[in-house]
Amino acid sequence: MPTVIVDDQEIEIGADERLNCIEAARRAGVEIPHYCWHPGLSVVASCRMCLIQAGTRNAETGEVSMIPKLVPGCQTPVKDGTVIVTDSEAVQESRARVEEALLIDHPIDCPICDKAGECLLQDYHFEHGQSERRADIHAFSSRRRDVGPTVTLFVDRCIMCTRCVRFTREVSGTAELMVSARGAKEEIDTFPGFPLDNKLAGNVVDLCPVGALGDKDFLYQQRVWFLKKTENVCGGCAAGCSIVTEHNQDTVYRLKPRENLHVNKWWMCDEGRYGWHHLHNETRIVEASHRDNEDPQAIEWADVLRRLPTDLTDAGRLGVAVSPMLTVEEAWMLCSVARTIDPDAYLAVGHVPSTGADESFPGGFTIRGEKAPNRIGVEMVLSMFGAVSEGGTVPAWNDLLEQVRAKTIQSAWVTAGYPTPERSWCDEATAATFEELSCLVVQDLFESPLSNRATWCLPAVGFAERSGTWVNCGHRAQTFEQAIRPPAGVWPEGRFFWNLLGREGLYDPESIRKQIAESSASFAVLSGEVPSIGLDLRLQQVAVT
Ligand code: SF4
Ligand code: SF4
Ligand code: FES
Repeated sequence: MPTVIVDDQEIEIGADERLNCIEAARRAGVEIPHYCWHPGLSVVASCRMCLIQAGTRNAETGEVSMIPKLVPGCQTPVKDGTVIVTDSEAVQESRARVEEALLIDHPIDCPICDKAGECLLQDYHFEHGQSERRADIHAFSSRRRDVGPTVTLFVDRCIMCTRCVRFTREVSGTAELMVSARGAKEEIDTFPGFPLDNKLAGNVVDLCPVGALGDKDFLYQQRVWFLKKTENVCGGCAAGCSIVTEHNQDTVYRLKPRENLHVNKWWMCDEGRYGWHHLHNETRIVEASHRDNEDPQAIEWADVLRRLPTDLTDAGRLGVAVSPMLTVEEAWMLCSVARTIDPDAYLAVGHVPSTGADESFPGGFTIRGEKAPNRIGVEMVLSMFGAVSEGGTVPAWNDLLEQVRAKTIQSAWVTAGYPTPERSWCDEATAATFEELSCLVVQDLFESPLSNRATWCLPAVGFAERSGTWVNCGHRAQTFEQAIRPPAGVWPEGRFFWNLLGREGLYDPESIRKQIAESSASFAVLSGEVPSIGLDLRLQQVAVT
């Protein structure tokens, strides 16, 4: 194995690995400060913050010969025998000089800067800068430039790392951003008439190491040190991007992508990024209700638990739409409850929203046309319950509608939870199909023509309010935890199904996951701990068979 020596510490790297000094040093637990380098972008080596000393150790004699000058760690690849020195006086002096140069014209308006608390300029200055300022202090400007509908640029905070420019050229492929002028006068700008307006634009804010690029949606909403972070999965489409939900006091403030080289690398799309506002929409269904005659009446959850199974049993054959917004655990519990109520219950995947074709970008990122995070997971669960047609496919929403029209089922339980308050997922004509059923249960986030016809209308929860497992379009299973509590009075589906199954205590998705893994080879790998990057269920199945 090739060996690299980082500050006298030997580490082994893979024979085929192509690492630079920053990446190799990380393996040794040493962080080399850097601004312009990012693993998802080309290397420009312009900021000089990562300067280190490097050399080679002769494999036979053990003699070390060092390059006489400091070298940029981001641009220097390592190989067997590479020696990296990150803590010498020369390196520390270089870092202090870079920090000093960057702060000469920086407005240092940290008290009003959104980035304060997570700013690399702050962090590196505290760690590597000098305590005294040698340059004259002059009046700083703090100009703000509107670069696009979602992003604003604080021009004078920019340290010209060009990460944002490279992102729009290499990843989104839209190239709206550029460097205008040169030398001390250079600035980030857009081309006239071409604002920063692409479906991945928000990523430039995450990339910006300082507070130069601000997200208009988050600007001045919350100090970052108040935010709690929960690892989640985006429910915006079948890609299932790994994300972090940042929240405080049961309110979500922003979503950020979480590195997952198997799914989204370092990015997420704006639709997903801003796709949390529905959680706090005031028109959400927040109480369970039951309709005896005309008017629905609010009903306590304890009464729902007691009366709903009997109602469905009395109504005749049951059809269930298992929403692709539910987790694997919730879907499994719903199917279990349904088959307890009616052993002959017809199970189908619920409505799967779609906007058509997938959309891919030059950097390899793809937004899926299928706007549901767990169709595959739900299909796998339904297969476990034998819900497979003669053709080998799992019944879909349209098949359930056919069953209703053919009157082969007399009651229906439709789980939904689609995050689109502005447009209902179910139109009047479709909803009218269910009119003659003896009993209709609808579990949803927002009112719809279908929920308006429901005998039982129950609230649902959004992605940040549930925990469990989703299986994305690449068959990767990712588990995640609940980030915030739903509005008062709303029971997450998991809690409701758990109670319907008569389980004791609080809903525990892990115990359900283990039970599923024990009874299905497809999910067997979920019996153990699921890493934060998830597990490819197809690979695991191949390994098992
Ligand atoms: S705006 Fe931010 S990301 Fe863009 S060049 Fe300036 S510091 Fe770098
Ligand atoms: S591509 Fe899909 S999963 Fe990823 S952030 Fe966008 S909506 Fe969410
Ligand atoms: S990170 Fe290496 S020069 Fe900027």
